Amino acid sequence: MSLFDVYPLFDIMPVKAKDVYVYDENSNEYLDLYGGHAVISVGHSHPTYVNNLTNQLEQLGFYSNSVQNPLQKELAFKLENASGCKDYQLFLCNSGAEANENALKLASFHTGKKRVIAFKNGFHGRTSAAVAATDNQKIIAPINAQQEVDILSLGDLPSVEASLKKGDVCAVIIECIQGVGGLDESTAAFYKGLSKLCKQYGALFITDEVQSGFGRTGDFFAFQKYDLQPDIISMAKGMGNGFPIGGILIHPNIKASYGLLGTTFGGNHLACVACLSVLDILEEEKLQQNVKEVSNYFVEKAKSLPKVKSIKGRGLMLGLEFDFPVAELRKQLIYKHKIFTGSAKNPNVLRILPPLTIKKEHIDQFLNALKSELS
Ligand SMILES: Cc1ncc(COP(=O)(O)O)c(C=O)c1O
Repeated sequence: MSLFDVYPLFDIMPVKAKDVYVYDENSNEYLDLYGGHAVISVGHSHPTYVNNLTNQLEQLGFYSNSVQNPLQKELAFKLENASGCKDYQLFLCNSGAEANENALKLASFHTGKKRVIAFKNGFHGRTSAAVAATDNQKIIAPINAQQEVDILSLGDLPSVEASLKKGDVCAVIIECIQGVGGLDESTAAFYKGLSKLCKQYGALFITDEVQSGFGRTGDFFAFQKYDLQPDIISMAKGMGNGFPIGGILIHPNIKASYGLLGTTFGGNHLACVACLSVLDILEEEKLQQNVKEVSNYFVEKAKSLPKVKSIKGRGLMLGLEFDFPVAELRKQLIYKHKIFTGSAKNPNVLRILPPLTIKKEHIDQFLNALKSELS
């Protein structure tokens, strides 16, 4: 049997990893500034994480959502404290797309409406409503295209209001800092305006924190920079440090009923322990503080790089924009300098999404490599 060939692969085979480093089968060491696509939050194979997951696996790896699972309650409690999202309710699933799918479905149930507003260059996943809300025609199949979605320009409040006025919008979904799209962000006035318009026209305000959540921007969630109170917050990636887990936080105004949402694997014992471990490590190692410090250092140092058009992003969700496509540069970084970096929809943006444990010396290592390629 062959693999369904959908991924263009780098010819590298990681076999183990530790903190910010990944090792291939020949023991070559790679600096991981990609974090497996913003997934590795507390570092590869963190000993607390490994021990907790190992112990849980020895006890109970999985049971379904038909019985008591106190780990889910513990997770809800700790997540409320860590995020500051008081009185929100937690629903657990397995991935970012699934989190957004549940967020949009819940918004539609709650409002009885079905149109969605999303934004240019946004990415929300590859499943039904999530992909329809994603600004990439290439990944929207005819079966997905039946969803009613208005994709509007970031920052364009009048267009948002015109669409909301139609009266059939269930949700506005937005990444407060765009990931795949290339790290664009609008203004505080725009995000606050969106939230206000949603209230005015009876649509739910969903912030997609799949990539930006769990401390990646230095705040627990990216929307917190703007002092917003979203109706639903979707999350995944950094939540499990590689263990598949996603979820949504749901405002207390939205009421649950049996059967409204559901999943077989979501919130399983191992997933809960993975996320609980991430929360403990984030706090113990003050990683949000580290994110801010290393980010400032990166931005300051990157200013002296040649050929950089702009430095984008915040926290450890960073990008360097050039006036040429970065595909070749990424190859040089990975094969010659043994450094993983990320790409974006904008081909000129090199993305930096390291584990949140990264230190200034790793940034120096990267910038030196980059300098030698650019000069
Ligand atoms: C902002 C955002 N939302 C949703 C998703 C989809 O997540 P997943 O690939 O886990 O389905 C991604 C993935 O990159 C993302 O960056």
